[in-house]
Amino acid sequence: MANKVYARLDDIDLSFSDRVVLKNCSLDIVEGAITCIIGLSGAGKSTILRLIDGLVLPDSGHVYIGDRDLCHASQRQLYETRRKISLSFQFAALLDSMSVGENVALPLREHTKLSDGEIRRIVMDALESVGLSHTYDNLPSELSGGMLKRAGFARAIVMRPDLILYDEPTTGLDPIVTHLITDTIVQLRAKLNGTAVVISHDLQSIYMMADYVAMLFEGAIIAYGTVDEVRKSPNPLVQQFLRGSEVGPIPI
Ligand SMILES: Nc1ncnc2c1ncn2[C@@H]1O[C@H](COP(=O)(O)OP(=O)(O)OP(=O)(O)O)[C@@H](O)[C@H]1O
Ligand SMILES: [Mg+2]
Repeated sequence: MANKVYARLDDIDLSFSDRVVLKNCSLDIVEGAITCIIGLSGAGKSTILRLIDGLVLPDSGHVYIGDRDLCHASQRQLYETRRKISLSFQFAALLDSMSVGENVALPLREHTKLSDGEIRRIVMDALESVGLSHTYDNLPSELSGGMLKRAGFARAIVMRPDLILYDEPTTGLDPIVTHLITDTIVQLRAKLNGTAVVISHDLQSIYMMADYVAMLFEGAIIAYGTVDEVRKSPNPLVQQFLRGSEVGPIPI
């Protein structure tokens, strides 16, 4: 049976003023899977996440979440769709002035009418699933970089999203914390029974967590498949990227 698709980019073109970022870009995000997107800095990876989250619209082409075409959705439909998607930003920051627990509670306070007790229970559960239940009353400034990332994940899951979009979750972290964060992403996918898209430059962690890998180059997805398939790709662009080599067809 074919895999069910949660989100689909269909032949997207997108430019910012005169800079073409995506050109004939198509990508399927398989439901229940972890899809990792790789590509050069500035290739448009974060832009893909913003398209899936309905924060930008393409110049042409379509973005589907399930059967819904975000390009032809009403404000209300867009809002309903976005509620099921959680974007964990590249430079996600907690608010310094409130405790970790209050930060994680923010989406619940904004979007639900749950009681303080219910909110506390959900926040505790979210913090526990990222190994941070002891930090509820701490201020963000008292946490390490890796802990802040995980607190950001906790905030991303309190609304029980179907899809979590992670933008460079391990960039700037040491190898052990990177391993821990990667494990956390895999565990959260299992806990939520959901779908994830992860942008990462960290090949080790991609090989650990990815069900599918997609490589973005010059505006389009030039390779897509399982980790094994992409590692064995005959495409010299893919091979050069995975080797991290200066020698090859990628202009540097
Ligand atoms: N809102 C915007 N307005 C103008 N240009 C933008 C905007 N968003 C992105 N860009 C440009 O689009 C290109 C792709 O940006 P994007 O952030 O998607 O790349 P990326 O692959 O995530 O890069 P990195 O690996 O450095 O995070 C860049 O040249 C960027 O400057
Ligand atoms: Mg980016």
